[in-house]
Amino acid sequence: MHVTEAQWSEVDCYVSDLLVGGDDHLAAALVASDEAGLPAISVSAPQGKFLSLLARAVGARRILEIGTLGGYSTIWLARALPADGRVVTLELDPHHAEVAESNLERAGLGALVEVRRGRATESLAALIEERVEPFDLVFIDADKSSTPHYVTASLELSHPGTVVVIDNAVRDGAVADLDNTGADVVGMRTAFELLAADPRIEATVVQTVGVKGYDGFAFGVVSA
Ligand code: SAH
Ligand code: DHB
Ligand code: MG
Repeated sequence: MHVTEAQWSEVDCYVSDLLVGGDDHLAAALVASDEAGLPAISVSAPQGKFLSLLARAVGARRILEIGTLGGYSTIWLARALPADGRVVTLELDPHHAEVAESNLERAGLGALVEVRRGRATESLAALIEERVEPFDLVFIDADKSSTPHYVTASLELSHPGTVVVIDNAVRDGAVADLDNTGADVVGMRTAFELLAADPRIEATVVQTVGVKGYDGFAFGVVSA
């Protein structure tokens, strides 16, 4: 069997048209992000809808996102919230944060989302220090080399049953190539080793293909 990247994209287009649902605000967010010079590295539409469905499935009222970019995944996540829900999303780049806030505002989600500027390590330390109410779902999608730290901090901000999702977990298979010692790959592998060793969480990795190439999500559920 010979499967091509063109087929992955065709299937994503097919699924997007049939099931995911077109939306002017999501489309506008991508256009505005592109026009503002942000890289096209948001999750795909089917992945965004998946995150949204996952948030709904767990009845998430409080969501933590690490890595906002233009807020595309943030819109999907915020759409899953009840009226009194909240997304706290962490972004280092002030330009990205500004574009995201404008995209969220346009989508009518400004009141549900807080974009916290600064290094995620510092924002996470502040959230822990503030003793904020634990999050029901955490989406980790920032600088990959810091993923181990983000996993550890997420556990501090979780309750039994919290779902932790990590994007870009596979990266063309690089994660399993032990000769690859790039900081991003080592970061992801170290994060998985933490997940494997920590009795507070049970985790797996699901590989994905699509318009964003060959990659995957890691999923963990915090133990009771
Ligand atoms: N979740 C987004 C994509 C995020 S891309 C989506 O799917 O739509 C990764 C983002 O993480 C970028 O905007 C980048 O600026 C941000 N980032 C990188 N290093 C960071 C850090 N140390 N702290 C917070 N954000 C960071
Ligand atoms: C890239 C993709 C991502 O989804 C991300 O979060 C960061 C970087 C990339 O393709 O470089
Ligand atoms: Mg990503």
